[in-house]
Amino acid sequence: MDNAHSSRRTFVKSAAIAGGAALLNPTLGGAPARHDDRIRVGLIGCGGRGTGAAAQALAADKGVVIWAMADAFRDRLDSSLASLGKSESSDRVQVAAERQFIGVDAIDQVLPLVDVVLLCSTPSFRPAQLAKAVAAGKNIFCEKPVCVDSVGYQSVRESVRMAREKNLSLVSGFCWRSSSPERAMVGEIHGGRLGEVVGITATYLTSPLGTRPRQPGWSDFDFQLRNWQHFNWLSGDHLVEQAVHSIDKINWVMGGRHPVKCTALGSRFCREDKPEFGDIYDNFTVVYEYEHGPRATMIARQQPNCYNDNTDWITGTKGYGWINGWAPTHWIKDYSGQTLWAYPKDGPTPNMYQVEHDTLFKSIRDGRSINEGEFMADSCLMAIMGRMSAYTGRQVTWEEAATGSESLTPASLADPLPVGKVPHPGSAPTGSAAS
Ligand SMILES: NC(=O)c1ccc[n+]([C@@H]2O[C@H](COP(=O)([O-])OP(=O)(O)OC[C@H]3O[C@@H](n4cnc5c(N)ncnc54)[C@H](O)[C@@H]3O)[C@@H](O)[C@H]2O)c1
Repeated sequence: MDNAHSSRRTFVKSAAIAGGAALLNPTLGGAPARHDDRIRVGLIGCGGRGTGAAAQALAADKGVVIWAMADAFRDRLDSSLASLGKSESSDRVQVAAERQFIGVDAIDQVLPLVDVVLLCSTPSFRPAQLAKAVAAGKNIFCEKPVCVDSVGYQSVRESVRMAREKNLSLVSGFCWRSSSPERAMVGEIHGGRLGEVVGITATYLTSPLGTRPRQPGWSDFDFQLRNWQHFNWLSGDHLVEQAVHSIDKINWVMGGRHPVKCTALGSRFCREDKPEFGDIYDNFTVVYEYEHGPRATMIARQQPNCYNDNTDWITGTKGYGWINGWAPTHWIKDYSGQTLWAYPKDGPTPNMYQVEHDTLFKSIRDGRSINEGEFMADSCLMAIMGRMSAYTGRQVTWEEAATGSESLTPASLADPLPVGKVPHPGSAPTGSAAS
């Protein structure tokens, strides 16, 4: 059996203890100075996204070397390494056997060996991994979501603050922020093209993600981790894991203003009754309320054989705008229907995932750190408060989500690891929505 089980509690504890020890280097943000221009990269979480991120890191800078890798499971690391070994830059994939690490706290062995880490594992582990990476003085690419509960959010905000203090680069996986049409459109909105934003409706309607039936020899933890998207404590539910991309666009368009509160609906009625579908909902609708009137609505669904849509409709005092990133189509009209602005059909559309890494490695080379941590954390908290509201049936304020004590991490990962009961709105105890 794979060693995915090793102690999550040790992991969290050592992240907390690790704080504050790194040395700073002006060019590599704390990595030991060397006499070559290689940037040694460690990949944490060798799944689909992690493998993609490693390939993008290689493409971003000729000095990048993939130097160490960690995954909870041996087979995931092996397949990622095999895939990177077939890439154009395979000569810079130099992960010798002694730099391949297995287990949920394998990041500990990677950090001393590298200059940059790509945090691409299962979301629940990210706050502790981020804390460790910052404490070790590494530059970081951090996939979304960066946290799944209030306690994780608080930890991430502290790590973000420390990363800024240490001059580390921290680039987020909220990839739409690196997409040229979205950047141009949000720039137009912030420039006042459609007046004051008074409402946003965003959709993320798609099919369920894949599952892995239980295999002989798997512990409960192995089984849940293999199907992590479907377990609330690991993913934060699909509002936090997937629709958070659209919530981040809402946060971006609103200029980082926090909603004061939200009210949400959600339920689960299309997930087949198989254990690998875990405990998450299959639909959410969240209404976010901002001070002085604006509202934003997020509608998210993961159900098969239904209409799919991933768009953002932005209403302003002078006009309205439409973002369809999948099409892609981006425009702003006034209320007579006249087009005020549209992203040119032949406008540049560089791969947004590549742009993220180009930005990160350029910042490292230039010695000018960038830190995207605040919006990265806040967009996740918006999603978390939406889930809290849907699960409980209560209105949830920003304040209670941000300062609450909700922690989804089980006390022990040993068998038996019971699956959470699918929440029933209105039946949660009164008091904090975070409980
Ligand atoms: N920005 C995007 O567009 C985008 C797209 C896909 C996924 N993602 C995000 O990327 C992350 C990974 O998603 P994925 O699709 O690659 O999933 P995946 O299941 O393919 O990969 C995750 C990997 O992390 C490993 N892992 C789990 N816990 C670990 C730990 N503590 N240490 C090391 N490895 C661990 C798993 O074994 C697995 O191999 C998720 O947070 C997901 O939301 C972002």
